[in-house]
Amino acid sequence: MTTLTRSELPPQSWPVDATARMNRMYRYQRHIYDATRRYYLLGRDRLINELRPAAGETVLEVGCGTGRNLIQAASRYREARFYGFDVSTEMLTSAISGVARAGLSGSVKVAHGDATAFTGQAVFGQKLAFDHVMISYSLSMIPDWTAVIDRAIASLAPGGKLHIVDFGDQRGLPKTARTLLRRWLTLFDVTPRDDLEDVLIHAATRNGAGLRFDRPFRGYAQYAVLTMPGRPPAA
Ligand SMILES: C[S@@+](CC[C@H](N)C(=O)[O-])C[C@H]1O[C@@H](n2cnc3c(N)ncnc32)[C@H](O)[C@@H]1O
Repeated sequence: MTTLTRSELPPQSWPVDATARMNRMYRYQRHIYDATRRYYLLGRDRLINELRPAAGETVLEVGCGTGRNLIQAASRYREARFYGFDVSTEMLTSAISGVARAGLSGSVKVAHGDATAFTGQAVFGQKLAFDHVMISYSLSMIPDWTAVIDRAIASLAPGGKLHIVDFGDQRGLPKTARTLLRRWLTLFDVTPRDDLEDVLIHAATRNGAGLRFDRPFRGYAQYAVLTMPGRPPAA
């Protein structure tokens, strides 16, 4: 038997460290995740409302966690096809049983993958370009979050949309509330990405894409939709 050293492993091999880190975080948390996060992961329902995939379109969630967003979206948009992946196998266990319980195994596929280095082919074994990619409260937990944005944009079909919601800089909140909130978030390994808007402006400019960005709930959250240019009309 040949044993490969870590440096010899191909780049799409298992993201062992990230998986172990997120599994430590969510091994027990996943059981109370949906019940507790509904009070403070604000803006997720708006994202689902605004998704509105057309019949036959594909929607990917990067860092799908327990599958809560995929299940809600797939229950609502019955004609679309949904994909989600997460680096935590603990979270995926919850996602898999949630999807099955909701009777959505026919329209939602979940898999293991690393957001910083994914392709549709590597994660789902299919050459896929997505009409919508959603990233909900995951960028703030991923150290190389700008790579995730690059990968997400690269995986969009022409005219596809990248929908992002995450913690904001809380600019409209009193200073004490902001300080306490930031401290509390570090307990969960969460770092709000204060330069998300700048990074998205650059990405939109590079790709000739449109960008909508706002900071709802007095800056508690930040919300963005980046729209890629469509396919040029046939001559
Ligand atoms: C706060 S949870 C958000 C889950 C879900 N998107 C939601 O809105 O409820 C963040 C998720 O990102 C996942 N995650 C962290 N690092 C990741 C990575 N490198 N690749 C994929 N998923 C990752 C975590 O395992 C976790 O499930």
